[in-house]
Amino acid sequence: MFLWGTATAAYQIEGAVAEDGRGPSIWDTFAHQPGKIRDGHTGDTACDHYHRWPEDVELMAAAGLNAYRFSVAWSRVLPAGRGQVNAKGLDFYDRLVDALRARDIAPVLTLYHWDLPQALEDEGGWMNRDISGYFADYAGIVAERLSDRVEWWITLNEPFVHLVYGYALGTHAPGRTLFLDALPVAHHQLLGHGLAVQSLRAAGAEQVMITNNCTPVWPATDSPADLAAADAYDTLHNRLFTDPILIGKYPDMSAFGTLDAVQDGDLATIAQPLDGLGINYYNPTRIAAPTTDLLPFDDAGITGYPTTAFGWPVVPDGLRELLVTLKSRYGPALPPVHITENGCSHDGLDDRFRIDYLDGHLAALAQAQAEGVDVRGYFAWSLLDNFEWAEGYHQRFGLVHVDFATQARTPKASYHWLRQHLSQH
Ligand code: FCB
Repeated sequence: MFLWGTATAAYQIEGAVAEDGRGPSIWDTFAHQPGKIRDGHTGDTACDHYHRWPEDVELMAAAGLNAYRFSVAWSRVLPAGRGQVNAKGLDFYDRLVDALRARDIAPVLTLYHWDLPQALEDEGGWMNRDISGYFADYAGIVAERLSDRVEWWITLNEPFVHLVYGYALGTHAPGRTLFLDALPVAHHQLLGHGLAVQSLRAAGAEQVMITNNCTPVWPATDSPADLAAADAYDTLHNRLFTDPILIGKYPDMSAFGTLDAVQDGDLATIAQPLDGLGINYYNPTRIAAPTTDLLPFDDAGITGYPTTAFGWPVVPDGLRELLVTLKSRYGPALPPVHITENGCSHDGLDDRFRIDYLDGHLAALAQAQAEGVDVRGYFAWSLLDNFEWAEGYHQRFGLVHVDFATQARTPKASYHWLRQHLSQH
């Protein structure tokens, strides 16, 4: 059965950051630092989903959705990241999973959507190789409790974005500005993924994937310099996170330095067999030859397409292009694909813009299927307007509007459109 869902992430919707024994995460710390988040917003309350989840599950059920991708906050389960387990944290997700299943909504659980327990950041965060093992321990603890009822397990969300924004540029938590010295974060996340797959399987998890942020890379021109720059960008954004997982080796990273964090045996650990590959698609990236010596590429920007409230170009066919490229790149090593996020920020309840966005991307998905790509699910980002990281509550990605003063939920036109669409499919 094709999975139709929405996707969310713990810190973006839950709130209740100091309740029932939850420990602090890097996002609590970061959001409370002045100047990090637009207008000083924080996720302290967010959508108050921690208390309002029954209403949110009803909204999904009423839309006719049959799956829901959510993330578990590591620091609810292990307040210090390792050691003492907080039973109340596990209980929350246990109740949520039961409620979803009672409504025939398949739980798709992401273990890590960027909210590292602060105590582990204090030990070096993902720059520290030991974090990979702690992540696997945490994965096992969650799976011991929920593997009998969770349909799909996702280890990491977008390790590329976490590397670049969190550790290289510092615009996301933990706010580190290591630039290319952050590369070990990529390897330690991938190693954590591989180790977590092993502990998930040992705890009875049946279907496991990872979610990568992927982008089609367009060279600005076909000059050799632009082509080389596009190739370097494709390596960093796409292949660095997909090659080791699917074919057990790193791409040539020499344009960026050396991956000296890699130890013997790591690649075999990383390349665990998977049941699926999660892809988050938002837009293509156009790349030109570098004009500085900081990086081997420049972002040349894309013009000539509509843009979302965030300024992101809307290119539905980029989804087809991405999927077809993945299939030709990996061939039989590509497992069935799920689009684990796709969506746009746009204001207002009458969101014709979002309807057109969804309609266009679903058509592109169908086209990719017609071209032979095995796609098994689509998750719209997002169910609710929520805390959009450095942008705070300014970017509204929800199918359902949230009034953050009252927490009132109001389905938008796009929600009704999707319900109608699903009733015909
Ligand atoms: C993705 C993130 C998700 C959300 C969307 C808009 O990169 O995974 O949490 O912020 O972008």
